[in-house]
Amino acid sequence: MSLFSLFKKDKTPEKPVVELTTDIHSHFIPAIDDGSQSMEETIDLLRHMEDLGYRKVITTPHTMTNSFDNTPEIIDEGLYQVKDSINKEGLNIEIEAATEYYLDDTFLSRLEKKEKLMTFGQNHVLVETGFMNEPPELKEASFLLTMQGYKMVLAHPERYLYLIDNKQLLEEILDRDILLQINIVALTGCYSKPVQKFAEKLIDMKVVSMAGSDCHNMGHIELMHEARNSKYYKKLLQLDLLNNSL
Ligand SMILES: [Fe+2]
Repeated sequence: MSLFSLFKKDKTPEKPVVELTTDIHSHFIPAIDDGSQSMEETIDLLRHMEDLGYRKVITTPHTMTNSFDNTPEIIDEGLYQVKDSINKEGLNIEIEAATEYYLDDTFLSRLEKKEKLMTFGQNHVLVETGFMNEPPELKEASFLLTMQGYKMVLAHPERYLYLIDNKQLLEEILDRDILLQINIVALTGCYSKPVQKFAEKLIDMKVVSMAGSDCHNMGHIELMHEARNSKYYKKLLQLDLLNNSL
């Protein structure tokens, strides 16, 4: 081997970086959850999303028993108001709404009753869980969602402490075709160092299907800018993310 060949560059072409134009997780409907609390705040946040390069946002207010008892009617009414304000303010961003369902026995009984769920994309359903313990309803809910033709998207898996060191559960989640949506802001370490490291690990494993802002307020906009300077942001954009097809 010549000395020259030792320094030859790896010929494998680098995967292209695809900028995100669709965001699929946020809290922009005013005063129905812990996200934006007024139309003024929503418009301000949407302007910043536009500045970040987004052309479309799928906003996902919480549906969580006793905390945020939202219904499709409440969410659709709020969406109608936001669209009206977008037009009046002349913003160049499209908005759709789904919801972020909290996985608990209420969600499971919705599935058992075959209640029509709020979806985005191609029948995708965004589901979050508690942060500490593996929810006992996880497997049954995933089974019923699949049986009913939905595609389950697990919101911010990097934040679940029960998953961080549980390789077996992660494998089972992937085997069940549950899609993983990580929060871009996690790359800044804003939640914690272990959460950041787990987000990076999921990117290295190439098992991330979607990236979301999970934007609730202006603090998250600042973190979105910060995340763009992180080492793993480029790696994230080199994955085959579904965002821009939704
Ligand atoms: Fe969220």
